[in-house]
Amino acid sequence: MSVNLLIDCDTGVDDALMLLDLAGNPDANIVAVGSVHGNVQSRRAAINTRYVLDLVGLEDVPSAVGSWRPLAQPLHTAEYIHGPFGLGGFEPPEPNTPLSEEHAVNQMIRLAHERPGDLTLLATGPLTNLGAALVLDPELPQLIPRVVIMGGNIAEPGNITPWAEANIWHDPEAADLVFQYGWEVVLVPLDVTHQTLLTGPYLERLQAAASSSAVAEFASAIVQFYLDMYEQARGIRAAAMHDPLAGGVALDPSLCGYIEKSIHVELRGTETRGMTVADLRGYRDEISDRPRVKVAMEVEADRFLSAFVERLTRG
Ligand code: BDR
Ligand code: CA
Repeated sequence: MSVNLLIDCDTGVDDALMLLDLAGNPDANIVAVGSVHGNVQSRRAAINTRYVLDLVGLEDVPSAVGSWRPLAQPLHTAEYIHGPFGLGGFEPPEPNTPLSEEHAVNQMIRLAHERPGDLTLLATGPLTNLGAALVLDPELPQLIPRVVIMGGNIAEPGNITPWAEANIWHDPEAADLVFQYGWEVVLVPLDVTHQTLLTGPYLERLQAAASSSAVAEFASAIVQFYLDMYEQARGIRAAAMHDPLAGGVALDPSLCGYIEKSIHVELRGTETRGMTVADLRGYRDEISDRPRVKVAMEVEADRFLSAFVERLTRG
């Protein structure tokens, strides 16, 4: 049986790769997508989503514009990582299919009520829409029982700052709210996404398929800018498949090994704002009374990457 996905994302390069991958996976049914600020501005993210959905024939799946700024800090976008329009060097044309007229937060609340207990919420951008929906509707955690989030870092350094991961850092207050409620939250942090690197033979397979598959051609084109950025920062030609891995985990949790911890987001640290904090001592009960989050700490990276590249190159 396929998993019904409500996706909330800030469509940059790896969000786009995730959408392409899920569209090609019979285990996934994409019900709707909402955008959020983050990699790019939220309207741009919704246009990018629309382009990707249209490319794979999902014209019926709505792309709704979501929150344009974080709850309690100024907007900060990351075109320097994802390209001027968020899709590497590619500029998507104005979409043929119109963007949804509904705001992404309203879409989330409406779908949650229309399909109680039926949706997995897959969030691969800052958590502003989820935070806003929780503020508006206290029933949300009962209606959406499972939330898979790409974000945070536990025993791994941050990426946007030495201590914080980008999605959490872009809206720490919203993220901290999400971790307070009793829905089943699965966190896919940098600890596992930094092990899931598109590199070497995987890239070669993707590039080789570009002449026979429109999906592989697009994926291969948009990933080049992202690879350049990673190479400049780390000295290896590789790209961390953050969001595609979260998409994979939403469908197949057995890809990862987990610890169960309460998660707090550092909101006041002068240096560490946006850091995800967990009690890792292990020799005593946690002091936090928050619900436990399933945090992915190990991943079968090659199993995921080979299936991912296989889906993107199928033609
Ligand atoms: C996350 O931040 C964004 O740049 C990526 O799309 C991913 O969701 C990784 O930290
Ligand atoms: Ca993202």
